[in-house]
Amino acid sequence: MLPLAKARTIGRACLLAAFVVGLTAWTPIAPAPADPGASPSDRATSPAPTPTPKYAENGMVVAAKKRASAAGVAMLKKGGNAVDAAVATGFALAVVHPWAGNIGGGGFMVIRRPDGSVTTIDHREDAPSGATQERFLDEDGNAVRARSRRGYLASGVPGTVAGLLKALDKYGTLDRATVMAPAIRLARDGFSLPYALATDLNEAYQDFAAFPSAKKYFTKGDSTKPYRAGERFVQEDLAETLVRIREQGTAGFYEGKTAELIAEQFAENGGLIDKQDLAEYEAVEREPVSTTYRGYEVHSMGPPSSGGVAIAQLLNAAERKPIGKMGFNSSRTVHYIGEAMRRTFADRAKWLGDPDHVEVPTQGLIQKDYMRQRMASYDSLRITPSDSVKAGRPMLASESMETSHYSVADSSGMAVSVTTTLNSGYGSKVVIDGAGFFMNNEMNDFVLKPGVPNQFGLSGTERNLVAPDRRMVSSMSPTVVEDPQDRLFLVIGAPGGSTIITTTFQVIMNVIDHDMDIEQAVAAGRIHHQWKPRVLSYEKNTLPQDVVWNLRARGWPVTMGVFGGIPQWGRAQGLRVKHPERPDQSRVFFGGSDPRGTGAAVGF
Ligand code: DON
Repeated sequence: MLPLAKARTIGRACLLAAFVVGLTAWTPIAPAPADPGASPSDRATSPAPTPTPKYAENGMVVAAKKRASAAGVAMLKKGGNAVDAAVATGFALAVVHPWAGNIGGGGFMVIRRPDGSVTTIDHREDAPSGATQERFLDEDGNAVRARSRRGYLASGVPGTVAGLLKALDKYGTLDRATVMAPAIRLARDGFSLPYALATDLNEAYQDFAAFPSAKKYFTKGDSTKPYRAGERFVQEDLAETLVRIREQGTAGFYEGKTAELIAEQFAENGGLIDKQDLAEYEAVEREPVSTTYRGYEVHSMGPPSSGGVAIAQLLNAAERKPIGKMGFNSSRTVHYIGEAMRRTFADRAKWLGDPDHVEVPTQGLIQKDYMRQRMASYDSLRITPSDSVKAGRPMLASESMETSHYSVADSSGMAVSVTTTLNSGYGSKVVIDGAGFFMNNEMNDFVLKPGVPNQFGLSGTERNLVAPDRRMVSSMSPTVVEDPQDRLFLVIGAPGGSTIITTTFQVIMNVIDHDMDIEQAVAAGRIHHQWKPRVLSYEKNTLPQDVVWNLRARGWPVTMGVFGGIPQWGRAQGLRVKHPERPDQSRVFFGGSDPRGTGAAVGF
């Protein structure tokens, strides 16, 4: 476990990202001259030792907070399935993890059924019907990025409640009252404030003070009265909001009192979400994006998330090289996957959008041959010049069609992978008065104006331009992997804006190519490149100096940290299944909760 201070630094990543990218343009770092002292070796790095992963035989939940994992496991113990457990975990996160757990945000869920079929539930926020580009431009046509990041204009129509309840209705077995009971109890009776949450809330005091309702619910009204670890944190209005959902289902959120409170407060404060936007919101069931990787089958989230497409592209590129032999975080490996990341994120910027509004060439992008062509310009000794790394031209085949991740599996072979978010930590910082929950600031994931990057430095085209009723492109990448015998193998995902994609990809490689257990795989140091800015980032203490020199010698601008200096990123939550090799053995679930955070794998 990392020291708390360090873990909290990472926890603030999303906020910091918003701040840093918002205030400063990315400064391209000039490539360092080839270092004559660079080691000629391409030796692999050894990941740091980690504790043995948690294990269990009947089922497991790995989430960003132990109480939320426990809420899910309580459903498995009652005989519920992985979806029941995921829904209980999701609602519990909305109570114990206000930073990112939510009912005022949205997310994506990938469900593997016991028969091996896979489906997904897109519960991404959509833009209110009044959300036009002009709302986010000043009179000179410049993007006013602050409007998409903070306050009432920043929110999309929340999708979490619709998504969780759709999953429960269609694929769960327990009733709403049962799966929502832990969340309601935690809100109504309160829970003992963990040190990390108390400190986070105290540090956000100034942010909350700008919004009376945030100040009312998430401060003690005065900066000289901080929260203390161990004190009871009760959220009565949130409990009542959850009770309305328990009693009336989606109508208990998208209609009636909660909807009225949202619509009234948004109208009074220049926001756009109205009663009709709420009443019309629907979670959408979609096909997963699937690919194979060295005989394993990988299923992830399709558009409007870019995650599944990008992970498929990265795996298709990685599969072309013996990554295991090349070594974990060796300069050869980092050089190769860094090049794959640049090309993949160039495609993301150009091609991704809401598939219900624009044509996304998903099948063309995930073809293995497409990535072969994209990597044809790869040179093992030199980076490809930046100006020549641009989006590719996938076949336009007709289509068949602060964030938190939790991974769940049950004894039937069912698995659920969910990534959920308010976007920045505590979203727009707006709390619905009388209902007690934070609203998202997901409008920042739209392109406000082509060429203007969002808080994660991601840019895009007209395909992701803010427009009424559209869903903004996401990087969330909940993923399920099956082994070559078609059995459940891995359930994985992570928070971290654009780093979600590269984190999830590297965890999969760590397990399959570098033979790491799930705890090592989520803990291991990571690298990141997102095409723009033109810099290869690595986590603190991840790359030995000779690897850094070797990369610089190949022409890479290399820097420690992402988004202007955040040293570590992506609190991945994953589980891996070990199947019996002999009849006297049983299946075992191994859980790995990223030591960068304060989550937990709980099983039974
Ligand atoms: O959907 C996305 O890609 C972003 N809204 C995710 C934000 C995020 O991961 C923030 N957390 N660390």
